[in-house]
Amino acid sequence: MELINGKEIQAFTLTHIGKEVESLKEKGVEICLAVIIVGNDPASRVYVNNKKKACANVGITSLEYALPQETTTEELIALIDKLNADKSVNGILCQMPVPKQIDKQAVIDAILPEKDVDCFHPVNIGKLSLGRTEILPCTPAGIIRMLEFSGVKIEGSRAVIIGRSDIVGKPMAMLLLNHSATVTVCHSKTVDLPSVTRQADILISAVGKPDIVTEDMVKEGAVVIDVGMNRNSEGKLCGDVDFEKVAPHCSKITPVPGGVGPMTITMLMENTLTAAKAQNNLL
Ligand code: GUN
Repeated sequence: MELINGKEIQAFTLTHIGKEVESLKEKGVEICLAVIIVGNDPASRVYVNNKKKACANVGITSLEYALPQETTTEELIALIDKLNADKSVNGILCQMPVPKQIDKQAVIDAILPEKDVDCFHPVNIGKLSLGRTEILPCTPAGIIRMLEFSGVKIEGSRAVIIGRSDIVGKPMAMLLLNHSATVTVCHSKTVDLPSVTRQADILISAVGKPDIVTEDMVKEGAVVIDVGMNRNSEGKLCGDVDFEKVAPHCSKITPVPGGVGPMTITMLMENTLTAAKAQNNLL
């Protein structure tokens, strides 16, 4: 069993991105990401801080817009419109979740597709489904990058995803299909989940519940990718996979923390770079 080290792959990738950002600066192109956070969700605050740190690390300017909890959809979209029109802003993201009075879909739709570095906009999801990708969904793209870096063959493999969220499960299926895997998406209504997951050469769990992936669900020698970010009963950060029991059966597995998490932010940096290049006709 081998651990897939997200931190190491992150460091390698960020170094490469940093060099490209630097060379664009020499051509007079400064890259800027606008990060919007609404309200006081502590987890969102941690994510936003980590995104700003990653920007600083690679030489991308980050602008934070922290809006109060009671912000309306109209106020948030007014800010997005201003950032859409600002040529010095290459990427815009609104940290999710937003407070419940805000129409989340209207916010996603308001961000110009060419500045949508999360790849949440329907146009970008549509392009992904057609294999016409420039901006990629961050977590799924980070997972593909980890698999490639670790020498896992995706083409022709059987990939099983647990979870059908708009952010991870669905775009992950699309991206794996674009890489010629045979893809199955499982969810809460799947009948006999273990019989499906046991077929996986690559098993990806994106559910958000500790220990839902157990030993009996994993084929001997499978590659297991754990997207979960949970707290267990002792308050410790953990993934979806019962790591101690499952890991001995895997050829490769991602830890939590230090697996998928760092790669999500890394791909956000790559998307911001790609967006800036596209906007300057440098792709
Ligand atoms: N909330 C959880 N994950 C994400 C993400 O990738 N992007 C944004 N904007 N919000 C999130």
